[in-house]
Amino acid sequence: MKGAIFTGFAEYAEQEFGLTAWLKALDNCELSSNGEYLATELYDDSEFNIIIDALSAIVDSDREHLLRGYGEHFFPVLMSLGISLVKDIDNLFDFMRAVDNVIHIEVQKSDPLAYTPTLLYDQPQNNLLVVRYMSHRKMCHFAEGLILGAATHFNQKASISQSKCMCKGDDHCLIRVEV
Ligand code: HEM
Repeated sequence: MKGAIFTGFAEYAEQEFGLTAWLKALDNCELSSNGEYLATELYDDSEFNIIIDALSAIVDSDREHLLRGYGEHFFPVLMSLGISLVKDIDNLFDFMRAVDNVIHIEVQKSDPLAYTPTLLYDQPQNNLLVVRYMSHRKMCHFAEGLILGAATHFNQKASISQSKCMCKGDDHCLIRVEV
C-alpha cells in the first residue's frame, strides 16, 4: 500500500484522537518500517492492519468506524490529486462512476505499482447507486468514508449501508448509496 495512505492515516489519527493516543498506539505495534513512511513508497498492507487494530484498542473505537472516519477525512486529499480528471462532474453518482472508469485507471497508468479496488455500479433507482466493491484489501469501510466525503464535496446528503460485505465472509461488498 502506498505510503500516502499511511501518512494520511497518521494525520487523521492525531487530529481525531490527539498525539498522545496516536503515539501510544504506534508504540504497541511491531512494524518493519518503524512507523516511518514516504508517500510514494510501497509498504506491506499488513502494517496498516496492525496500526488500525492498535489504535482501535487505545481509543476504544472499532476498525470499521476508524476506516470510515479516515475515508471521510482523506477524501479532499485524494480529490485534490484527481480533480482535473473530473472537473465537469457536478454530482455524486456521476463522480462515483468516474472513480473506476477514469480516476483509478489514471492512477494505475501513472503508477503501475499502485493497487486500487474494482468498483462496479448498478443504479436500480434514480436516488440509489449500488457499488460492488472488490479488493483483496477488504477496505470497504474506507470506501464508505470516501463516498461520504465525496457527497460532502458535491453538497449532497447520502446514507450508506452494506447488504453484502467481504469482512463478513461474502466474496464482494455491496455498498448502497442513497441520496
Ligand atoms: C468516492 C471516491 C473513491 C472511492 C470509493 C475510492 C476507493 C478506494 C479504496 C477503497 C482504496 C483502498 C485500496 C483498496 O480498497 O484496495 C483506494 C485507493 C486509492 N485510490 Fe481511490 N477511491 C476514490 C477516489 C479516489 C480519488 C479522487 C483518487 C485521486 C487520484 C483516488 C486514488 C487512489 C489511490 C492513489 C489509491 C492508493 C493506491 C495504492 O495504495 O496502491 N481515489 N481507493
